[in-house]
Amino acid sequence: MSLEGRSLIRVSDFSAAEIRHVLSTAGMMQDRIGERLDLLAGRILATAFFEPSTRTRLSFESAMLRLGGGVIGFQDARVSSSAAKGETIADMARIIESYADVIVMRHPVEGSVKVASDFCRRPVVNAGDGGHQHPTQTFTDLFTMQRERGRIDGLHLGLCGDLRFGRTVHSLLGALEHYDVKVTCIAPESLQLPSRYIPAGREIQLTARVEDVLPDLDVLYITRIQRERFPDASEYEAVKGTYRIDAKLLESAKPDLLVMHPLPRVDEIAYNVDPDRRAAYFGQAAYGVPVRMALLALVLGAVDSTGVEGPSPESQERASSPRCPNPDCANCVEAYTEPEMWVVDAHRRRCGYCDLELSV
Ligand code: NCD
Repeated sequence: MSLEGRSLIRVSDFSAAEIRHVLSTAGMMQDRIGERLDLLAGRILATAFFEPSTRTRLSFESAMLRLGGGVIGFQDARVSSSAAKGETIADMARIIESYADVIVMRHPVEGSVKVASDFCRRPVVNAGDGGHQHPTQTFTDLFTMQRERGRIDGLHLGLCGDLRFGRTVHSLLGALEHYDVKVTCIAPESLQLPSRYIPAGREIQLTARVEDVLPDLDVLYITRIQRERFPDASEYEAVKGTYRIDAKLLESAKPDLLVMHPLPRVDEIAYNVDPDRRAAYFGQAAYGVPVRMALLALVLGAVDSTGVEGPSPESQERASSPRCPNPDCANCVEAYTEPEMWVVDAHRRRCGYCDLELSV
């Protein structure tokens, strides 16, 4: 199986071998940054962003330009695209496919990028679908650990902050299934990780206090509390500012800790951490360019991935079912989409758009 022509919707679309192939391709791109590469000359990337973005959109655009390709798109699609006139995601995707070779899309609805991909013959890359997944950030995160620590296996990772709505954490956990790491989830109870994102068979420790676990961590991956995803403003007010990593707190951490953050930060990392050599977050954002160069080159077939073992074919059974009840799910929001429920076991079904698990 090859990555050429494939959409990237969730991390479980990738096998362990494919993840490693993306990371080694990103390493090649990193070594050649600054050189003129014409791998994607004549190809066009369309960016369709329905939510704010700085790093993801600009690093994709930079990646495409560095590979010799061109970029079209909108950065505030909610008001500047025909979505403002009521156009569906499916129709938008069918239109863009005749204007571009690959589409990178961000949207507030969970599973929306899958809908675009279902209706479009070009590869569609998920740049964040609501509080669900953000797979290209995950590749950036893995690449950062590999470059800065030389390995991923054997590390103890503390995932801290908004684990309920933080899509970068959900995606990262999906990839960590393929690595031998210890994971501790650090969050107040109301922001702890939803069970649907815990990889099957993995034991994860939960705590609310970062101080308790910090001295043992190799990576502290902290996230912003995702204010815009709270159904109720008072719930956000109750948890905002829960964590603040500062120079004093880091005195108890390992000398080779990596402090990572997908950014943007609000107040969870003090500015006095920035000069510390353990602060990896700005480098992490910079690694987004070689990683996205690799992903674009692979899905457009400019770098070979034939022979890399793909994910094992779906052995899952499809269940006949009503529409997904999650009000944030594309199957609920986009009325023309077919329900897609998969059998987990005799008592549970999983939505193919948003991964919500239902008891039956
Ligand atoms: C993240 C996102 O959009 O999910 N940002 C990013 O892409 N680097 C994190 C966030 O918004 O908190």
